[in-house]
Amino acid sequence: MTQILCVAGARPNFMKIAPVMAALAEAGIAAQLLHTGQHYDAAMSEGFFADLGIPQPDHHLEVGSGSHAVQTAEVMKRFEPVLERVQPQAVLVVGDVNSTLACALVAAKRGVRVIHVEAGLRSYDRAMPEEINRVLTDQISDLLFTTEKSALANLQREGIDAARVEFVGNVMIDTLYRNLERAVPASGTLGAPLADYAVLTLHRPSNVDHAATLAALLDVVAEINRTLPVVVPLHPRTRGSIEKFGFTSKLDGLRVLPPLGYLEMLGLMREAKLVLTDSGGIQEETTALGVPCLTLRTSTERPITIDEGTNTLVGPDPAAIRAAFADVIAGRGKAGRIPEYWDGRAARRIAHHLQGWLPQQKGVRAGGVGR
Ligand code: UD1
Repeated sequence: MTQILCVAGARPNFMKIAPVMAALAEAGIAAQLLHTGQHYDAAMSEGFFADLGIPQPDHHLEVGSGSHAVQTAEVMKRFEPVLERVQPQAVLVVGDVNSTLACALVAAKRGVRVIHVEAGLRSYDRAMPEEINRVLTDQISDLLFTTEKSALANLQREGIDAARVEFVGNVMIDTLYRNLERAVPASGTLGAPLADYAVLTLHRPSNVDHAATLAALLDVVAEINRTLPVVVPLHPRTRGSIEKFGFTSKLDGLRVLPPLGYLEMLGLMREAKLVLTDSGGIQEETTALGVPCLTLRTSTERPITIDEGTNTLVGPDPAAIRAAFADVIAGRGKAGRIPEYWDGRAARRIAHHLQGWLPQQKGVRAGGVGR
């Protein structure tokens, strides 16, 4: 009998599900893996399975891209029959992508318990699609595992009982520690050694879907590139926008790379002088690596990376980016410290908790409608 059906769909899910699957196996909990296919390019998906030793998915929904409504609906439609066939005791979702919410919603409506890993993070910016996914997934989850203590206060503010919340630490950082030794040296990824460089990642719709915002960002990055070479692993969404807006020449002089595998990206970040990003996960990874991070967003759902880590929130404003960059160059980048429970053992804490929790969950949850 499958006890837990684990879900992953998009790139940032894969480094979270890898240690969870390994820890469940180690704890003797029977799990299956489902890939929704939200991300499908080899560079955005298969490569991570190979790099991180994730078992091949037992189920693949192959949903692909679409508007938020279409993508979420497709996952829901295709997930329901699988859930009906597998009949797990619980569905485990990670992070905040559309696949996370879609599968949680189907499970909750069918009376199957929902476990959310990385619960309770809030940017308080409802213009972010992920924020909607976070709030709704947490509301319908039975068991919520958190990465930092601010998450509990966020959840309680939304009426979620603290008894359902368990602080376990950060599974993505489990993956980071597990793979540090295997990380590809930057010189390998870049084709030649580069003494000092910055890494830029950009893909949030708020930064890349509007021509004026994207142009301003690329222009300030070009300025930075004159002082410190900037390496840019380019997300397909961003590449699409750059081509659509006719901004290809703004990339001149930058070291543009395709989306990188996990081990290449880890090696590149570890040796960087500075990372500029609008990613959620990279704010955490740079904190764990002790590399200064300038976050090109006006809010973060991961405040511990600012309070304790190496992160500085600079937003998309060129003047603020310029000033923060000058600080790092002057040696005033943040050193930070490693947050509590970001120790490589978060997934084991999850598995250990589940060994006690699963036997207490009998039958369909009250309110589950079945069909
Ligand atoms: C999704 C997540 C976001 C996460 C990001 C990491 C949601 C709401 N967003 O955003 O939280 O930070 O993944 O990458 O779930 N595309 C490809 N190949 C792929 C996948 C996508 O070319 O394998 C292109 C398609 O043109 C697609 C676009 O990228 O339309 C956006 O993909 P999508 O999954 O909708 O959102 P992301 O921007 O990747």
